[in-house]
Amino acid sequence: MLKLGVNIDHVATLRQARYRGQPNGEPDPVAAALVCEAAGAHGITAHLREDRRHIIDGDIQRLSREIRTRLNLEMANVPEMIAIAFDVHPGIVCLVPERREEVTTEGGLDAAAAISALTETCLRLNNAGIEVSLFIAPVGCQVEAAAEIGAQFIELHTGSYAEHFEQTAERNRELDRLAAAARRANQLGLRVNAGHGLNVRNVPLLHGVPHLVELNIGHSLVSRAIETGLATAVREMLAAMKGYTG
Ligand code: PXP
Repeated sequence: MLKLGVNIDHVATLRQARYRGQPNGEPDPVAAALVCEAAGAHGITAHLREDRRHIIDGDIQRLSREIRTRLNLEMANVPEMIAIAFDVHPGIVCLVPERREEVTTEGGLDAAAAISALTETCLRLNNAGIEVSLFIAPVGCQVEAAAEIGAQFIELHTGSYAEHFEQTAERNRELDRLAAAARRANQLGLRVNAGHGLNVRNVPLLHGVPHLVELNIGHSLVSRAIETGLATAVREMLAAMKGYTG
């Protein structure tokens, strides 16, 4: 069965828009994570960014204590984040590239260009009992680098597939690249996740990509939750206003 890891970063994005710097605020990404688990999600993913623009340290601490599935901590390969991973001990760390000016994680890691730094981090995390995934583009040399580094998982970047979804030829080319990368990873003993830009429209065609273990999905789920949940929120508010006599 293909597993779903829900990325809850954008619940925190909304909270930070109003409550940055304050100890409490809504919506609470941990409460959202528990709702996702109750609905059947197999794991929770959260990206602790250097600039703390959405998820903050306290969220990671609380997620690691309160969720029942497993925490996939997305982070850059930097000493500050590695120390946090040792402290909270997530089930898995997904190493991603990070640039301050990007809106979201734009590209995959250049694992082939950072083999020694990534090997060292992977080994340290593995020695602490934490599995490691590398977020990479569906390119043979990156998959081979991930195997050389000793990662347990790769997460294939599906952004380009999602971007080209409406153009049949390009979409099929991206699906072929994902399938080839997944096959190569499987040959090398890597387990394969995928994510970025996925939604209910483009996920069905991913069924043609072999060896997938888990999809990590955030933006489309949080967007859909707002659209489907607003009616309830409005009804609740109208009930709270009912009976006003002026
Ligand atoms: N996987 C990784 C490694 C990511 O960085 C992101 C975006 O934060 C996702 C999955 C989820 O992407 P999206 O929000 O587009 O579903």
